Amino acid sequence: MSKLKNKVAVITGGNSGIGFGIAEAFKNEGAVGTITGRNETTLNNSLNELGNDFIAVKGDVTNLDDLENIFKKTADKFGKIDVLVVNAGGVVDGVAMGTVDNTTEESYDKYMDLNLKSAYFSVQKSLPYLNDGASIILIGSSAAHRAAPGMAIYGAAKAAIISLAKGLSLDLLSRKIRVNALSPGSIDTPVFGKLVPQEQLDQVKQMWIDITPVGRQGLPSDIGNAAVFLASDESSFIVGTEILSDGGLTNISLMN
Ligand SMILES: NC(=O)c1ccc[n+]([C@@H]2O[C@H](COP(=O)([O-])OP(=O)(O)OC[C@H]3O[C@@H](n4cnc5c(N)ncnc54)[C@H](OP(=O)(O)O)[C@@H]3O)[C@@H](O)[C@H]2O)c1
Repeated sequence: MSKLKNKVAVITGGNSGIGFGIAEAFKNEGAVGTITGRNETTLNNSLNELGNDFIAVKGDVTNLDDLENIFKKTADKFGKIDVLVVNAGGVVDGVAMGTVDNTTEESYDKYMDLNLKSAYFSVQKSLPYLNDGASIILIGSSAAHRAAPGMAIYGAAKAAIISLAKGLSLDLLSRKIRVNALSPGSIDTPVFGKLVPQEQLDQVKQMWIDITPVGRQGLPSDIGNAAVFLASDESSFIVGTEILSDGGLTNISLMN
């Protein structure tokens, strides 16, 4: 398996859930590179599983100096970068998602910083270290298309991510850098433990299974497989668009 042989990849949030699934899929296709995150324990555990072809760089994606450091350390170790996966995001630690009647300006800013601003500046800070012809994959969400309770701000940020894939592809056309969005549906990752109490986890996951046409939650490997395609030269004609990997959640209704 060598669809990504010798390609250098950076996966933000590669120490958990979808990001780790992408890192594993990339490794299995011959890529080398960097996973990032803030949690040293999960960074080290993930690195142990990925092996010597990867390094871990600790950093907060909402901090522009940390972003610069991630790309510099990667280039120092591996040379220029071929694939950037902008995956870190989702739930802001200790800040509940809310509805419009109960959301503060501070929590709005924190969700937008993590799920939109950090993505834009991850791309910007990577630019000096990217090879021409690189592939950038922005992790979106089916929540951009289908509203879910209390997730209006998150959904709006992810909708903007899909728009960024278009605008940034245009900005970077002269360097033949492709930017695409990859939007998961409901994927079984640690994020659910950040959203609901332990005793409600099974019930909430079952609710997502019930509304997903294929009858299951996705796995991080489902997103990993789609990311391999977008990272590889097989997708070289795919620019500025979105791939949904959501088991039909967005486009198929289960109404009888
Ligand atoms: N799971 C789903 O159903 C689903 C559906 C659609 C889209 N998504 C998207 O998929 C991506 C990954 O989500 P997931 O489900 O895999 O969630 P997860 O298991 O909670 O992983 C989130 C990742 O983001 C990192 N992260 C969070 N805040 C960060 C910060 N300020 N700085 C640096 N890293 C940060 C976390 O690492 P640290 O905590 O170590 O910093 C972790 O690696 C997110 O963009 C999410 O919006 C998920």
